[in-house]
Amino acid sequence: MRISFANDYSEGCLPEILENLSKTNFEQISGYGLDSYSKSAISKIEELLGAEPDQVDIHFTVGGTQANLIVISHVLKPYSGVLSAPQGHIATHESAAIEATGHKVIMLDADPYSGKIDAQTLAAFLNEYWANPEPEHSPFPGMIYFSNATEYGTLYSAEEISAIRDVADKYDISIFMDGARLGTALTAEPGVLSFGQLLDLVDVFTIGGTKNGALSGEAIVFTNRKYNYGNRFRWTLKQRGGMLAKGRLLGIQFDTLFTDDLYFRAAKHANRMADLLRTGLKQRNVKFWTETKTNQLFILIAPEMKQMLLQDFIFLDWLIPTEQQLSELGLEKSDQEYHVIRLVTSWATQKEWIEQFLNRWDDFANL
Ligand SMILES: Cc1ncc(COP(=O)(O)O)c(C=O)c1O
Repeated sequence: MRISFANDYSEGCLPEILENLSKTNFEQISGYGLDSYSKSAISKIEELLGAEPDQVDIHFTVGGTQANLIVISHVLKPYSGVLSAPQGHIATHESAAIEATGHKVIMLDADPYSGKIDAQTLAAFLNEYWANPEPEHSPFPGMIYFSNATEYGTLYSAEEISAIRDVADKYDISIFMDGARLGTALTAEPGVLSFGQLLDLVDVFTIGGTKNGALSGEAIVFTNRKYNYGNRFRWTLKQRGGMLAKGRLLGIQFDTLFTDDLYFRAAKHANRMADLLRTGLKQRNVKFWTETKTNQLFILIAPEMKQMLLQDFIFLDWLIPTEQQLSELGLEKSDQEYHVIRLVTSWATQKEWIEQFLNRWDDFANL
């Protein structure tokens, strides 16, 4: 069987989750997220955030696309759009789920390698929008969306988000941080951004379970920092099909993830495995599309090497760089072609898999 570095949701779930689902199987408990496990999970998340009683509103839903479209359609006015990097998940990988709710995804320039937006670009965009004497002819920019970690595995620091927040506050728009990979983002570089800081930095964020050891599930956290978006969210959640009758499935999972630091331990494991792979590839002088510290690696690889590795491993083709991009990455035009592939580690990745990958790399490099 080939070993997969295709993504961080190839495996089932953390054994602790399976065990707790099984242990509670015959309990008869309330539905629709009002069960004791969902309430316990919410208390644990609130405590970890350092939130005051009733300060935040927390809800659970099944998937990332669903969380994004429900949050965005709940927060935005009918005439508003959401700003995103062109590489943002809502802009590229959600089959126009946001647009299907009636809200345009408005592209904001971002660095092509890191996929990150910045405060300056946001300020320039909003300034230009409001300089138009007839701004109402295009959608009102009502929200800024970014994911952390990004789709390119890069991270936002508290300082970067704080600069984005200052611009957002000036123009009175909300900030939504998609945390499908929040665990690996927060644990990659200690001191860069803490869980508790999110209370003051963003208006709403998600805590991804699906890509961090849950069978499925995302927590949605309204910080109510400035706006009371958490109010009446259960109506939107229900209307958009995101409220599970068997809410226990999500409650039990998040209660388990936020017991004994399991959520962050699982993420640290994924990051540690990525570090091993990154170090091994760097020792082999492999070029990276972008420098990451999280569990996603994007590397340049010769197509022949890629084909050989695909005999034993699964990973994703990401893109084929242009000549200009290759020269920006320090690879001047040569006879050698390159592709960019994505390698992802997870809570379940084994150290031996990394060693096998690097050994096969050496076997093929020495052919
Ligand atoms: C940043 C981000 N947001 C949202 C999603 C969507 O999640 P789902 O596939 O559960 O709908 C993904 C999935 O890859 C993602 O990477």
